[in-house]
Amino acid sequence: MLNTILIIDDDDQLRKSFQKLLSEEGYRVATAASGEAGLKELDETAPDLVILDLRLPGMNGMETFQAIHDQEPKLPVIIMTAYGTTETAIEATKLGAFDYILKPFEIPEMLTVIQQGLEASRFMRIPIDVDAAPEASSREAIIGRSKPMQEVFKAIGRVATKDATVLIRGESGTGKELVARAIYHHSHRADLPFLVINCVAIPETLLESELFGYEKGAFTGASHRRLGKIEQAHGGTIFLDEIGDMPLDLQAKILRLLQEKNLERLGGRKTIPVDVRIIAATNRNLEEAIEAGRFREDLYYRLKVVSIWLPPLRDREDDISRLCDYFLTHHAAQLEINNPGMTPEARAWIEQHPWPGNVRELSNVIQKALIFNRGTPLSSDDLTQIAITATTDETKDFETIEASIRRWVRTVLARKEQDGAFDFCLDHLAKIIISEALTLSGGNRSRAAKLLGLSRPNLHSKINKYDLVFETRVKKEGSSPNQL
Ligand SMILES: Nc1ncnc2c1ncn2[C@@H]1O[C@H](COP(=O)(O)OP(=O)(O)OP(=O)(O)O)[C@@H](O)[C@H]1O
Ligand SMILES: [Mg+2]
Repeated sequence: MLNTILIIDDDDQLRKSFQKLLSEEGYRVATAASGEAGLKELDETAPDLVILDLRLPGMNGMETFQAIHDQEPKLPVIIMTAYGTTETAIEATKLGAFDYILKPFEIPEMLTVIQQGLEASRFMRIPIDVDAAPEASSREAIIGRSKPMQEVFKAIGRVATKDATVLIRGESGTGKELVARAIYHHSHRADLPFLVINCVAIPETLLESELFGYEKGAFTGASHRRLGKIEQAHGGTIFLDEIGDMPLDLQAKILRLLQEKNLERLGGRKTIPVDVRIIAATNRNLEEAIEAGRFREDLYYRLKVVSIWLPPLRDREDDISRLCDYFLTHHAAQLEINNPGMTPEARAWIEQHPWPGNVRELSNVIQKALIFNRGTPLSSDDLTQIAITATTDETKDFETIEASIRRWVRTVLARKEQDGAFDFCLDHLAKIIISEALTLSGGNRSRAAKLLGLSRPNLHSKINKYDLVFETRVKKEGSSPNQL
C-alpha cells in the first residue's frame, strides 16, 4: 500500500518539485497552498505524513500545526522552516511535531526524515495483536502458545499499565522490539508518542545529541537549538534499543534521567524536567559486560527490576509450527499471492532446524521461499537451500567473488578518469544486484524490494536511476533457489 504525503506550502514551485520528487520515490502526494486548504485535504486524503511550511498566508503555520495535531495526534508532521523561525519550529516539536528541517534542505536529508516519520507512525498507530490465531492475522502479531511465551504475555500484561522502566532481553531475532511495541500499545501512554532510538545504528558521536538535544553553540555546527528525542517523547514512551551497546558516559546520563526525571541539553545549563517511560532492550550479556567494564552496574540494577526474557526459538518447539502458519499467511498477504502451504516434510524440517537467527530467521526463510515459489506447496528442499545459503555458503563464495571484483576495480581505476570511477563502480554493482532481485522475483517490484531489504520507494527510484525498467528479465522456468 502506498503511503500518502500531504504537503502544505504556499510556494507553487516548491510544491511542484516536491510532488515530482515524492511521486518518483513511490509515494502518493497531496498538496495544499494554505493552512485552511491543508485541513480540508487532511480530511479528504487521510495522509500518513504531513510536511508543513511555517510561513503561510492566512492561518499561520503554527495554528495549522495545532489544528492538525488536535485532530490527529499521532500523525507525523515535519515542519519546514527558514533560519529566522527555528524557535517556532522548536516550539512545534515540543508540542508534538515529528521533526523540523531547515530550508534550503538537501533532498536525501528530507527523504530520510520522511522515512523515519513513516516508521514512527507505523509503530504508534498499528497495534500488535498478542497471541492471535495465526491464520487470522495479516496484521502484526506476537504468536506463541508455548509455556515460556505464555509467561512473556503475562509479563507484558503485568508491566504494561505500570509506568515502570522495562528491560527486554533475549537473543537476536527473538521478538524484543515486538514486545516493546506491545507494551506501549497496552499502556496508559498509548495515545502519546512512542519514539525509538537504536543505540547501535546511530554513530557514537551523534547519539548523545540525538537523545539529549543541544543548545546553540554547544559544538561546532550547532547553529541553533535542537530538542533531543527524550525531550520530544515527553509524556510518552521512548524505546532504547540495543542499550547494551550504549557508551558508558551516556549510560550515566540515562541513569540520572531514571533517578531524577530530568536532563540537560548539551551545552545547556538549565535542568529540564521530563516525564518519559523508558523501555530498553538488548541481546548482550550484561553481566559479562559489567565484568568487562563496558556496562554500569548501577544502571544494570536499576533496569533489571522489571525485565522480560525472550527464550530462543529452539526452546519453544510448540510455537514453531504456529509461527510457520502465521508467516505463511502474513507474507503471502504482503506479497499479494495465494498461500501455497507447505509439505509435511517441509514442516518436519522446520520443526527440527535449530534456528540460530530465531524468529527473524524463520520469517525470512519463509518469505524468501514464497518469493521463489511458483504456487506449489513449499518443500523441504526449497527451505533447506534458502536456510543453508543464508548461513554458510555466502562467506565462502564471497572470497572468490571478491578477488575478481578487486581485479575489475583495479582495471577501472587504471583506465577511468579519476572523478567518475567511484560512481561508475558502485552503479555497476548496484545494477547487477537490482536486476538479479528483479529476475528472482519475476519482475515483481514489491517482492524484489523485500528481497533487497529496501523500501519500495527506494527501489523504485533506483530502477529509474539505472533505467532498469526494460531490463527485467523473465524468470526462467525450472530455475531453483540454489541458483541464488
Ligand atoms: N512471537 C512472534 N510472533 C510473530 N512474529 C515475531 C515473533 N517474534 C519475532 N517476530 C518477528 O521476527 C522479527 C524479529 O523480531 P524483533 O525485531 O522484535 O527481534 P529482536 O529481538 O528485536 O532482534 P534484534 O536483537 O536482532 O534486534 C520481526 O519481524 C518480528 O515481527
Ligand atoms: Mg531489535
